[in-house]
Amino acid sequence: MKSLSTISTVILGSKLEMEMSLLLPLALCTLAACGSAAPPPQPTPSPSPLLSLACNSSYVLDIANFVLQDINGDREDGYVLSLNRVSDAREHGQEAGLGSLFYFTLDVLETGCHVLSRRSWKNCGVRTLHKSVYGQCKAIFYINKARRIFYLPAYNCTLRPVSRSEISMMCPDCPSSSPYDLSDPRFLETATESLAKYNNKSPSKQYSLVKITKTSSQWVFGPAYFVEYLIKESCTKSQASSCALQPPNSVPVGICHGSLSEQDSEKSVSVTCDFFKSQAPTPRGENSTVDQRPVNLSKVEEPQQKNTAPTNSSAKAVPKGSVQYLPDLDNKPKGSQGTGPVEAFPVQLDLTTDPQGEPLDVSFLFLEPMEEKLVVLPFPSKEQRSAECPGPAQEDNPLILPP
Ligand SMILES: *[C@@H]1O[C@H](CO)[C@@H](O)[C@H](O)[C@H]1NC(C)=O
Ligand SMILES: *[C@@H]1O[C@H](CO)[C@@H](O)[C@H](O)[C@H]1NC(C)=O
Ligand SMILES: *[C@@H]1O[C@H](CO)[C@@H](O)[C@H](O)[C@H]1NC(C)=O
Ligand SMILES: *[C@@H]1O[C@H](CO)[C@@H](O)[C@H](O)[C@H]1NC(C)=O
Ligand SMILES: *[C@@H]1O[C@H](CO)[C@@H](O)[C@H](O)[C@H]1NC(C)=O
Repeated sequence: MKSLSTISTVILGSKLEMEMSLLLPLALCTLAACGSAAPPPQPTPSPSPLLSLACNSSYVLDIANFVLQDINGDREDGYVLSLNRVSDAREHGQEAGLGSLFYFTLDVLETGCHVLSRRSWKNCGVRTLHKSVYGQCKAIFYINKARRIFYLPAYNCTLRPVSRSEISMMCPDCPSSSPYDLSDPRFLETATESLAKYNNKSPSKQYSLVKITKTSSQWVFGPAYFVEYLIKESCTKSQASSCALQPPNSVPVGICHGSLSEQDSEKSVSVTCDFFKSQAPTPRGENSTVDQRPVNLSKVEEPQQKNTAPTNSSAKAVPKGSVQYLPDLDNKPKGSQGTGPVEAFPVQLDLTTDPQGEPLDVSFLFLEPMEEKLVVLPFPSKEQRSAECPGPAQEDNPLILPP
């Protein structure tokens, strides 16, 4: 799984390379101050400074796209994150031939696609304002264009739902989103009853609940409950005998949206399910090319496999980052003025605390058995970012922009 994601990282590289072939030389020029007639001789290769990049440049936006694709691709839980704006972007040129390390801070919005759908964030719509979940990701990204390496060593994100009190002021009747509140047993009831309805209509396959991933409720003419939940395949009645032979497989195959509402003590249940691409039982109506990565991997896959062999495979199983969910900002501690400003979206991402930097071994990314070490710095603080940051937001409602 992890090595696959590394492969796709590299594959994406060749795609990006085409798009950026015109852009990269430009940016490298600013790095090396090219164009000056005679570059001054540098007897001791001093480390390049950390460059602040303009957050709205297509150079930065192209990289941000791939950073976010790799973050989403690394995750097994939660919903695909989409880019709202680039908050900060730095480039740290490495030794000659080794490319650059990038330090990106991205303001993100949750979409309606589960990460297991493996859809590209560009093909996923963000949630409506009252159901928004927003936040910030920090990522360290490595690009070595000459060797077609695009690699995400680390990321971390922090998300919060949109302020419920602000929303209820604007829209008192909107469903209140309680993303992780499973305390009300009606949510589980909504999931099981709606899935039973789906199974009832399903001619062959039967599905069972893996877990509820989103809940909300609303008062219409009576209470209404909405849930999203992952499903896996389970035995059909007709299969009962052969069922025991099937290996226990809890891989989610799709996601369902169920609702249960009551009016005058009459229950009404609705359900729709979407199947993830690789397990789709029937071809979906939508474009199957959505988020399809290049199928022909022969060029890049081969060296990748060669490379993964000698390295510790256990090292690659370590997650590259995590997404932290915090409650909305309604209940932020107000009585503690003395403690100074508390960061609303704390995201920790430090591979080192040494201001001089630390070596980061990326030898396994290279074809040849050689030792290649990058210099990784502490994650740069927001204070020194470019004046051209943050970039413009796709959704610039202050309610869903990290401060
Ligand atoms: C960002 O870039 C887009 C496309 O180049 C441009 O239309 C827009 O005006 C830019 N916005 C800012 C704030 O620079
Ligand atoms: C599906 O693909 C076709 C051709 O590739 C394209 O014209 C069409 O816009 C796509 N539809 C969607 C919904 O992406
Ligand atoms: C994949 O690419 C290689 C070389 O580029 C080519 O020989 C091969 O036919 C391609 N395979 C497919 C399935 O396109
Ligand atoms: C990982 O590599 C180290 C030395 O590089 C070796 O001692 C260790 O046994 C390896 N672990 C695994 C699980 O291969
Ligand atoms: C990512 O965040 C977690 C806490 O959410 C922290 O334990 C971890 O050290 C962070 N990763 C890095 C590389 O800083």
